[in-house]
Amino acid sequence: MTAAKRALDEGAHHYSDVLGLLTLRKEIVRKLAQDNSLSYEPDEIMVCNGAQEAIFLTFLALLESGDEGYCCQRPVSPVTTGLVRAAGGVVVDIPSGERDGFVPNLEKISTLITPRTKVMAVVTPGNPTGTVISPAHLGKLAQLAIDHDLTVLSDEVNELLIYPGFEHVSIASLPKMRERTVVVNGFSKAYAMSGWRIGYLAAPSDFVSALILLKHTASLATATVMQEGAVAALASARNSYKTMLIEYQLRRDLLTTMLDGCGLTYATPGGATYVYANIDGTGLDDEAFSLALVRETGVLVYPGNILRGRGPSPRSFFVARDICGVRSWRVSCRGFSAQTVGCVLVQTWRCSVRPSFSRFASSALEKGKGHDNCAGIDAYVA
Ligand SMILES: Cc1ncc(COP(=O)(O)O)c(C=O)c1O
Repeated sequence: MTAAKRALDEGAHHYSDVLGLLTLRKEIVRKLAQDNSLSYEPDEIMVCNGAQEAIFLTFLALLESGDEGYCCQRPVSPVTTGLVRAAGGVVVDIPSGERDGFVPNLEKISTLITPRTKVMAVVTPGNPTGTVISPAHLGKLAQLAIDHDLTVLSDEVNELLIYPGFEHVSIASLPKMRERTVVVNGFSKAYAMSGWRIGYLAAPSDFVSALILLKHTASLATATVMQEGAVAALASARNSYKTMLIEYQLRRDLLTTMLDGCGLTYATPGGATYVYANIDGTGLDDEAFSLALVRETGVLVYPGNILRGRGPSPRSFFVARDICGVRSWRVSCRGFSAQTVGCVLVQTWRCSVRPSFSRFASSALEKGKGHDNCAGIDAYVA
């Protein structure tokens, strides 16, 4: 923040280069080399308005109307599926199962590839399951991409939020993958800069050059002052995420212990800030469960059906980030009524409420005000 304020005082009021400030791109190059064993030149980096814009531009550039954008794992964030569709593509669902830890199923993927499949999206650690794809499994996905001549979009925004026992490897660092991979990363997660809207992509220079016109058309450039803040984050706050990570791990462990206590299953998240839980045993569907929870207890969760895609899969809910306190709650539904577990999940970010979820949020707001150990629920974030 100090760096951004100083930059404003010093006149950072104008457009930057469409690719982003050279100082920032050089810092990103250094980060990718140090953390991910990836070698890029500054003109192979494009700074964007969040990872979201980087992903959207990538899909816009790669998908013709009706082309297939491939999601290696479902459930997956609408950041991926929504942007495939928004770019005119067709989402190909590859359901992955809780028993396998939501790791992409290679057999299913290979049977579903068609001549119209253009992009394979790999999100690790995943949203909303927290799945971390192992280097060995990434190697197999890489081989599939090579065999079928697919471009890989590697969404690595959660890369630093990894718990002990798990390892993040960029698929772009595997043999013959740099030339067919677009690496997407950003500052929202590890640097908690989600409202700054700053992210980036790294890809071979011909691809990045081809994106310049799109980026210019979409947003001209990324806000200069935000870029100055990102330079400071990379240059001098590279380890700040470690304190957050300890807290996130405590929250994950607290939540999974509670879920164990009431007999709900989940795949232990290896990274990111989510827990994705199976509620088949409760007899309620995703939305009914989430509504009951928020009405009866003020516990706000996301109903899992919003992310699952087609095909049979268990009913579920997932929670993200901010567990503000603990209190007991009771949900009276089949197979679940005798269990008392508790957590108060609140979103502490202030931001707009997505209309389709406003009913969850408003109910949660009412409940949240009464909790003695948290300040109330600001909003629901999708
Ligand atoms: C997997 C994943 N990719 C991308 C994004 C978007 O990141 P940004 O805030 O940098 O646009 C999110 C946000 O939650 C995410 O979970």
